[in-house]
Amino acid sequence: MTGFVEIVEVGPRDGLQNEPRPIAVSDKIALIDLLSQAGFRRIEAASFVSPKWVPQMAGSAEVMAGLTRHPGVAYAALTPNLQGFQAAMAAGADAVAVFAAATEEFSRANLNCSISESLDRFQPVLQAARVRNVPVRGYVSVVTDCPFQGAVPPAQVAQVAERLWAAGCHEIALGETLGRGTPDRVAAMLAAVRDVVPVERLAGHFHDTGGRALDNVDVALAAGLRVFDAAVGGLGGCPYAPGAAGNLATERLAAHLAARGWQTGLDPAVLDRAAALAHSLRAG
Ligand code: HMG
Ligand code: MG
Repeated sequence: MTGFVEIVEVGPRDGLQNEPRPIAVSDKIALIDLLSQAGFRRIEAASFVSPKWVPQMAGSAEVMAGLTRHPGVAYAALTPNLQGFQAAMAAGADAVAVFAAATEEFSRANLNCSISESLDRFQPVLQAARVRNVPVRGYVSVVTDCPFQGAVPPAQVAQVAERLWAAGCHEIALGETLGRGTPDRVAAMLAAVRDVVPVERLAGHFHDTGGRALDNVDVALAAGLRVFDAAVGGLGGCPYAPGAAGNLATERLAAHLAARGWQTGLDPAVLDRAAALAHSLRAG
């Protein structure tokens, strides 16, 4: 198989949000500015969530204000509710993402509400985004495994994905939050989701805790997905998912795809420099 595969860089958000030590706004900006030169079309740069829930993302408005916009790069932010969306717009975000979970337990832990309540909160975000022509990505977390429920039935994931799609999200990102998913179970989940959302509007977001993320990318490629998230240097995890350390490293994913003949448009030398910077931030 050959063709173009888009890697969406999520390290400045999904990576850094999980760092226990405060990271200076200037360091976050330096990382984003370097990543902006690597060839990404989209960088998830910020998160407008409650600072009590995720203190590391508290400086997101300053990060958005301070980064140097690179032509052709869209800078995205997480927005769990209208308050977050308004803050993201004021800060100049080009795109936003709402995030739901496939299980009630994870929804409570991450958003302090049920799945249905979270979807209700996303409605005004989607409405306001439509008026402003801002694309909204919809995440579904815990698509194979939940820290509270265990194995998640594919139909449960498809149901939430379908609701986000019907609500107007332009893309559904499937979050394998814990990095415990095996390729066979990821394939079963994708088969169920593909029945309700066009495959070209799906993105794979595979954490690498169990070391299977690249295998999961391969089954997703075979299923027709062409968009994958990754975090430079393998930064990250999720603060409300115990044991979810480590996103799939962008430089590993880019090399894996290149070796199989896929184009990503990314510059490996810039990625290596950004990975080194990410490691130095983590080492503190
Ligand atoms: P809540 O406490 O139920 O909210 O939290 P609330 O509406 O009752 O408000 C309580 C306080 O939060 C108020 O402040 C609000 O102003 C404030 P107070 O009056 O107490 O001073 N607040 C906000 N502040 C800033 N920005 C906002 C905002 N909204 C309310 N947008 C809430 C509900 C959703 C806010 C909270 O649960 C929250 O922020 N959760 C975010 C959790 C999070 O960011 N998790 C990590 C990202 S998701 C992820 O990593 C998974 C992903 O990578 C995919 C995958 O891997 O699966 C995407
Ligand atoms: Mg994640």
